Amino acid sequence: MRINTSRQNLGEISEDLLIVPVFEGESVREGALAALDHLTGGAIAPLFESGEVDGKRDRSTLLYDAGTLAVKRLLLYGAGAAESLSPLVWQRVAGAAIRSIGQRKITSAAFLLRAQIEDEAQVRAIVEGALLGEKTSDLYRSKRDPVTRLETLHLVSESPDAPDFAEAARVAQIVAEAANFARDLGNEPGNVITPSELADRAVEMARREGLAVEVLGEEEMKQLGMGALLAVSRGSEQPARLIFMTYEPQEAGSDYDGPVIALIGKGITFDSGGISIKPAEHMEEMKYDMGGGAAVIGALQAIARLRPNVRVLGVVPASENLPSGRAVKPGDVVRSLSGKTIEVINTDAEGRLILADAMTYAINHGATHLVDAATLTGACVVALGDVRAAVIGTDQPLIDALLSAGEQCGERLWQLPADKEYGELIRSDIADMKNIGNRTAGAITAAMFLKHFAGDLPWAHLDIAGTAWLTSTKPYMAKGATGFGVRLLTRFVLGFNREDS
Ligand code: BES
Ligand code: ZN
Ligand code: ZN
Repeated sequence: MRINTSRQNLGEISEDLLIVPVFEGESVREGALAALDHLTGGAIAPLFESGEVDGKRDRSTLLYDAGTLAVKRLLLYGAGAAESLSPLVWQRVAGAAIRSIGQRKITSAAFLLRAQIEDEAQVRAIVEGALLGEKTSDLYRSKRDPVTRLETLHLVSESPDAPDFAEAARVAQIVAEAANFARDLGNEPGNVITPSELADRAVEMARREGLAVEVLGEEEMKQLGMGALLAVSRGSEQPARLIFMTYEPQEAGSDYDGPVIALIGKGITFDSGGISIKPAEHMEEMKYDMGGGAAVIGALQAIARLRPNVRVLGVVPASENLPSGRAVKPGDVVRSLSGKTIEVINTDAEGRLILADAMTYAINHGATHLVDAATLTGACVVALGDVRAAVIGTDQPLIDALLSAGEQCGERLWQLPADKEYGELIRSDIADMKNIGNRTAGAITAAMFLKHFAGDLPWAHLDIAGTAWLTSTKPYMAKGATGFGVRLLTRFVLGFNREDS
């Protein structure tokens, strides 16, 4: 999609469609609405005066071939109250407006940036919303839903002295395309996205974008001593992979001594639970248990294109979790790459096992800051639903940076505590730790397990189990994988301040 920006005369906009966000209670006698009323020969004012158009969220009216407007269609789209327009709301308004034009043959659209839109985060949210909204998830239907495929999106500023938003639009497009890439990975079924296929797609992306990439197979993992990752993959015919991507900032040579951010993503391409098998109901959704890995792969694509000034590692341990005669069993003790031993009480708590070895691998490759993203616990879904992901970690400045990135991009987080008492719940009688606690505080005990593998580094863990997947289609986004984490991690890396670290 081509995206351009301008401060254009409304009468000259010539796309197939002009989307005009309208606010609750605004006057039709001012600004763009008054201009449009004039250009349409008075077609707009009666809509407002009769209450037909009231600006309430997601209520819309479409006009065709109106007056002297060059644009074919005019969509007056309800954005709600003008006071509560966070980036998240703009993302949803833009996404829902694009989705609402559905099956019409529209290849170019203009979006009016109302005078209330002042900062880049809002403009980014609009572009991201439009691109995320446009996408469907019926990958394998023979007859796919007919949808709008926009070739151009034109952002038109209402105010003649609005800032130039071209750079914000460029960044947002890169980030949204990366999120859609991650959504595709999450929506693909488990028989397509196996660990090796996930690795192949990451390698393809990395080569295209100029990232260094290496993929470890099981033989190399064995030699290194990745006993925790290998324990999880034992039950599967599909060999595990460890995907390792590196982004080098321009200025870096061999003498780079700045921070190295490791983004680590859980890449379980199907989680049956293993010997501690899950109930059948909804087990099919466990194809998205690689949502953290997809977020990391997507974020690296965006980072490669946006070229921030910091080295970034992307580490994705990928495996299936299946029961078989060879599978790891409850009670087994395994030795992780770090040397720490783990008693596996429940084979369904597999994510933390593969992440443990990936974290140590990242540390061994020079990471100075660790951020992991994982669909780690059902307990997190119970606590926070699909609205916010949990963040838990050892370093408050790092957590604060993630919380703030989340508010800016609309992928919101909520911090859970990490008091040491929670760690006592995963003490083992036979090994250094066990892989589950009791029934309580499940999202936190999972994080306390990972903490053992963070060494002394600043580390934060994102539990995205609830936010990585939409169980029903929303006005602004198709159901299925959400790509949650791509926008957040990219924004976090772009805003990473070397002086604070
Ligand atoms: N992949 C699941 C967590 C999950 C659950 C993600 C629901 C998305 C939606 C994870 O591997 C798991 O099974 N965790 C167990 C841990 C338990 C055995 C301590 C869980 O949450 O039930
Ligand atoms: Zn599991
Ligand atoms: Zn899992």
